[in-house]
Amino acid sequence: MYAEALDNEFAREVRAGLMRSGQKTLPCCYLYDDLGSALFEAITWLPEYGLTRADARVIQAHAEDLMECLPPDILVAELGSGTGTKTRAVLDQLGRRQSVIYYPIDLSVAALEKCAQDLGSRGEVFPIEASYLDGLREVAARRAPGQTLLVLFLGSTIGNFEPEAATDFLHAVRLLLQPGDALLLGTDLVKPVEQLQAAYDDPTGVTAAFNLNLLARINRELDGDFDLRQFEHVIRYDAPAQRIEMHLRSRVRQTVAVRGAGLTVEFEANETVFTEACHKFRPEQICVMGRTAGFRLEAQWIDPEWPFAESLLVAV
Ligand code: AVJ
Repeated sequence: MYAEALDNEFAREVRAGLMRSGQKTLPCCYLYDDLGSALFEAITWLPEYGLTRADARVIQAHAEDLMECLPPDILVAELGSGTGTKTRAVLDQLGRRQSVIYYPIDLSVAALEKCAQDLGSRGEVFPIEASYLDGLREVAARRAPGQTLLVLFLGSTIGNFEPEAATDFLHAVRLLLQPGDALLLGTDLVKPVEQLQAAYDDPTGVTAAFNLNLLARINRELDGDFDLRQFEHVIRYDAPAQRIEMHLRSRVRQTVAVRGAGLTVEFEANETVFTEACHKFRPEQICVMGRTAGFRLEAQWIDPEWPFAESLLVAV
């Protein structure tokens, strides 16, 4: 085993996830290395994947309504900003009434740099390279009295959490806020299963590449010997749980070594590794989740074309 193997968080999580006796798993956050982020970006251009366009459309259509719901003197922070493309409409609208201060929070330095470059002309951009909660803690520490925080958490990233963890996460966000601060939460809504299937298993295979890249990343970073051609992208819809699951299915019985994680793992033919859950919501569920976490629902806007909701939650 490599000496540093178990100091490495990625190695530890890969080891824990693949050594399980039941369903093998890999954490979805590791899908987003540089290549994975580029593949996700490509997904957002797929005609079958309407989620990102719907998110941007609702924000664009209701940026003005959003501002009307907020007090003066707003600071904007965004959890997982990426390059901040969807945020432009919010900052533009804000810029019509005050000077803009924007804290994009992300783990990708490349994304933060592009974000600062693209949005820098709209106001002051202070990129924060940190996890969501660490980043938000920094922003909260820098606020002046009288300023109200508007936190953006877009793209239905909340759907990656298990329901209970989603509420816990929103509660953790709430604990960093003051009453009157706002959270704009983007969530993909329940829709016909055929539409979800096409969105998560597109005919061009971009989503398959995005999913398989997780094994490629293990090969690159942890000296693994996954043969990517011996795995395939599959999705499952769990209707009662309202979620799409992405899996990687082993085409054959095989043994794979991941030297950087000190691991040799056996796969049965057709055995899967569960890589990502994408929960879908009903509009009223967002209200309940928000309330449980210490917010009230101030407004909710839904895209008419691709069911997707933007919910404005205010800290109580
Ligand atoms: C970035 C988590 C919102 O759940 O739709 C897209 C990720 N996975 N296609 C989603 C994803 C496969 C995406 N989120």
